[in-house]
Amino acid sequence: MTQGSPLPTARSANAARKAVIPVAGLGTRFLPATKAVPKELLPVVDKPALQYIVEEAVRAGLAELLMVTGRGKDAIADHFDRQPELEAALEKKGDAARLSAVRHVSELAQMHFVRQGEPQGLGHAVLQAASYVGDETFAVLLGDDLIDARDRLLERMLDVQQHRGGSVVALLEVPLQEISKYGCASVTATDEEDVWTITDLVEKPDPDVAPSTLAVIGRYVLSPTIFGALRETPPGSGGEIQLTDGIRALVARGEAVHGVVFRGRRYDTGDRLDYLKAVVRLAVDREDIGPEFRSWLDGFVAGGA
Ligand code: UTP
Repeated sequence: MTQGSPLPTARSANAARKAVIPVAGLGTRFLPATKAVPKELLPVVDKPALQYIVEEAVRAGLAELLMVTGRGKDAIADHFDRQPELEAALEKKGDAARLSAVRHVSELAQMHFVRQGEPQGLGHAVLQAASYVGDETFAVLLGDDLIDARDRLLERMLDVQQHRGGSVVALLEVPLQEISKYGCASVTATDEEDVWTITDLVEKPDPDVAPSTLAVIGRYVLSPTIFGALRETPPGSGGEIQLTDGIRALVARGEAVHGVVFRGRRYDTGDRLDYLKAVVRLAVDREDIGPEFRSWLDGFVAGGA
């Protein structure tokens, strides 16, 4: 299923150019694997989850990236850097395909890094990007939230932001009993399919008080006014500064915030079960290993493997 804007618009000079990717979280749901390895670098088939996310930002025209990192996350910068010794070894072996894959990673985008110091929540991570972003609309892509490359979401959000101004969040329809894992949106309809006006947001509500089953997922296009709002946001759910609370403050001030409902494939690679689904889903569709893996999987499901 492909999500495209019904009317693709040429983006203007004030369109978002920069993307911020927070990767400083502790990844506790994936311990012990994430004790020394950043969860954003866990491989989905043969690429770290984070590389898919960087490629998505670049595809959407956001070629200037800021990673918000933290202690124990240095391997992330290494992954996107040149590796001359490895490149020389591959060149010597005549392994052109792997050499090109290795070089491709370091040539993806202009990448910058800032450290969060202490993981005090997603809102706090985004706040570390204030001086890099300046007075521009920008995108935020969560470093463990994988959107299938065949299902366009970020492009649609950027188009909606260009058309309607303000900020845009991504929404996913989830079963009611799961809404307490997410930020949840109160909405009213617009004249555009799957685009809603956000009237309120609540972080991790109990299902019996949730205003909807629309969960906020890891893509945002934000007005720079978010930084002022986040500076005034006290720690919320879990003692952390929540991005949801900052966006809620924008809504309360009367700033435009819209939500785009995503109907494609999305995986929270920081969650073990979703991670496994991502690996299987992407592996079966690969041209190289897909056919063999699928035939093994068929046998496994049938109880034979
Ligand atoms: P998560 O809430 O999934 O990350 O944040 P986490 O805290 O690492 O997860 P668990 O619950 O302990 O397993 C989504 C994204 O935001 C980043 C994370 O690295 C992840 O990519 N993040 C989160 C930060 O950069 N800083 C924070 O303080 C929190």
